Amino acid sequence: MNVLAIGDIVGARGCAFVAKHLPHLKRLKGIDYCVANAENAFNGLGISPELADGLLSAGVDMITTGNHVFRNKGVYEYLDSCRYILRPANYYDNNPGRGVAVADFGPWRAGIINLSGQAFLEHAGNPFWCVDRLLEEVAGCRVILLDFHAEATAEKRAMGYYLDGRVSAVFGTHTHVQTADEQILPAGTGYITDLGMTGCIDSVLGVTPESSVAWLKSGLPAKFAVAEGPQMLCGCVFEIDSATGRCTGVERICVT
Ligand SMILES: [Fe+2]
Ligand SMILES: [Fe+2]
Repeated sequence: MNVLAIGDIVGARGCAFVAKHLPHLKRLKGIDYCVANAENAFNGLGISPELADGLLSAGVDMITTGNHVFRNKGVYEYLDSCRYILRPANYYDNNPGRGVAVADFGPWRAGIINLSGQAFLEHAGNPFWCVDRLLEEVAGCRVILLDFHAEATAEKRAMGYYLDGRVSAVFGTHTHVQTADEQILPAGTGYITDLGMTGCIDSVLGVTPESSVAWLKSGLPAKFAVAEGPQMLCGCVFEIDSATGRCTGVERICVT
């Protein structure tokens, strides 16, 4: 099977860009399943039920999120009720939503896990202990995918090797800059440190350079404006042998 993983979608324009390109991209690459991180869909911070529904109808099969997921309170109930959206599993147990899901492909199943790193990110429990527990929950799944939403490259690469041979693919999100280290790890897990961003090209992680520079120069609380202009869609395609769960190919993509 071919899995398309899409990096952090920023703003309504980023969502619209996904809707515009995803159907063609899925046909072109023979995509069977699409996971997209949309923690920045709602004005750059969080996600709304309307934007999530839009992504799901555009062909995204599972939405993952990260540290900004709870910024828009209007999504809390949706996180509890919708089966196609995840938040990091290692957040507090009493937070809305869940961090693991199972997709049914008839004769076999796929498990999708969303976790947060701990470096420079608050409120996340140790993802290494957490993932061991989650792998027991999805033990019956032939294919297992992990969106590891984390800042530090070392933490992400360590997670890749920790799970090598135990899951089909580990892809990082959160930094919004695509890394060039896509690979198949020695025991058959597909890996990339960061999928990159889906949003405005001329921006600082999706927001206007002006608002970012103003904040860095003043240190005062700032309102970041989502940048407008030509967009890009960054992600990775993982070719996975659904009989073994091993990754057989990784292709980094960036659509402009
Ligand atoms: Fe993000
Ligand atoms: Fe993030």
